[in-house]
Amino acid sequence: MTLGAWDAQGVGAVVVGERRSIVGGNWKMNTDLAAAVELADNVVAGCQALLSECDVAVFPPFPYLQAVGRALGNHGLLLGAQDVYHQPNGAYTGEVSSAMLLDLNVQIVLVGHSERRHVIGEDNELVNTKVRASLESGLHVILCIGETLEQRQAGRTNQVNVAQLVAGLQGVGTEQMRQVTVAYEPVWAIGTGQTATPRDAVAVHRVVRRTIADLYDEDTAGSVRIQYGGSVTASNAADLFAEPEIDGALVGGASLEADQFMGIVRAAVES
Ligand code: PGA
Repeated sequence: MTLGAWDAQGVGAVVVGERRSIVGGNWKMNTDLAAAVELADNVVAGCQALLSECDVAVFPPFPYLQAVGRALGNHGLLLGAQDVYHQPNGAYTGEVSSAMLLDLNVQIVLVGHSERRHVIGEDNELVNTKVRASLESGLHVILCIGETLEQRQAGRTNQVNVAQLVAGLQGVGTEQMRQVTVAYEPVWAIGTGQTATPRDAVAVHRVVRRTIADLYDEDTAGSVRIQYGGSVTASNAADLFAEPEIDGALVGGASLEADQFMGIVRAAVES
């Protein structure tokens, strides 16, 4: 991997590395059992040939993990969970531990998704305990961060993202960072059809990467993958992925249609 020095442009400082893209389909609380299996079958059929060049993960609802895992088989797609609880077991009604996820061959988990933070009310501290517990159990983590519209309008975009990143990674060692991907998902872009411009996304990705360099080192910063998420579709993906700073996407709505999702994976491979 070639790592460039800090970009001399100051705030936009960035370490350039060669990173394999990762595209995730976050199905959220959608599909039923039959639809989930059908979607998984179609994603396998469409993506198989692309997996040598791009990591692809799907995140079905908890009850369908096992069936979707079976449909994914051993074709190389990653089975992901939308959330996890940090305790290994015990009296935590309704929660699911990383051991349970590993039992179902889950390899990767979303932590701190904006809907967990803003709808369910998870704070940075809880997100961090989930990140650490997941990493310790061997899961790969996608740590999601992102500012609300109000925070952006108040000029607090970088501050909010850096705070969520630093808090989320508290206690995570350099070695463990190999298991971490960051998803920058501005809340105002999620499910709204209002995608961030590549320029806006890159600006935040650079700040994220610089922060990781400050927390760890340049090698780590250069190799961590940073996805963009928020109204990514097959039509806008190529423009986003043309930016070397954007290492793939976390996709909600468009991941529920196999053709759309495949279009996004193809754009990642072609970038
Ligand atoms: P969206 O969701 O693609 O529907 O905007 C993205 C996400 O929440 O991960």
